[in-house]
Amino acid sequence: MKALVLCSSPRQQGNSARLARAVATGLAASGHDTETVYLADAVTGFIRDCRTCRRADGTCSIDDGHASLFLDRFLDADGVVVATPVYWYSMSAQLKAFFDRMSCYLFAAYPGADSVMRRMKGKRIGLVLSSEEAYPTLSAGVIQPIQEYVRYTHGTFVGVVHGQGNARGEVSRDPRNPIAQAEQFGRDFFALRYTDYQIDTPRAPRVWESPNA
Ligand SMILES: Cc1cc2nc3c(=O)[nH]c(=O)nc-3n(C[C@H](O)[C@H](O)[C@H](O)COP(=O)(O)O)c2cc1C
Repeated sequence: MKALVLCSSPRQQGNSARLARAVATGLAASGHDTETVYLADAVTGFIRDCRTCRRADGTCSIDDGHASLFLDRFLDADGVVVATPVYWYSMSAQLKAFFDRMSCYLFAAYPGADSVMRRMKGKRIGLVLSSEEAYPTLSAGVIQPIQEYVRYTHGTFVGVVHGQGNARGEVSRDPRNPIAQAEQFGRDFFALRYTDYQIDTPRAPRVWESPNA
């Protein structure tokens, strides 16, 4: 499978990037074709009013690496892991900008909008985050929009790895060992079970098959 790992902290030696690299190690160990990208190298601008910055041929005129990252690498991937620090109980502005700017390729004015929409569907998406604080709902403002994105694009929200730390790399001292969790998450990424039932979803009474059944 083709996997893309997006590190969105401006600190490339920081905590979320450490976790993201561990996920990438796990993905590669399971034989997946894995690429890691630091968003700060690719996305340097926010979305603008598309009516003023769209070129005559429908393409985006913001001249950074977003177009090639989104159109060539993101759309090509079977699975994407996004890594972010918790910033003000939400995701980093870099990651938000990456998602916001996808919209430019979905409007009818973009000549390839139909193909973009088709290729956005059905991906496996994972989330890796780091924060200073630890209380359980601290990460709700990061998880919720990612989950909505996955729902909107008929994807699979594979799961979340959360490490605690503040200083660069301090996440490696978190006693829950999120770095090992992240590596395992990468190994299992394309196999992990995900369910989101509706009342009439046909299902077996057990979640896991019993060896004696
Ligand atoms: C602008 C900013 C906002 C932050 N807001 C929060 C926050 O709301 N809650 C929290 O637990 N940590 C917060 N932090 C701390 C970071 O989440 C923490 O240091 C994280 O490990 C940084 O990840 P990084 O090393 O990948 O950049 C904030 C840090 C910055 C710089």
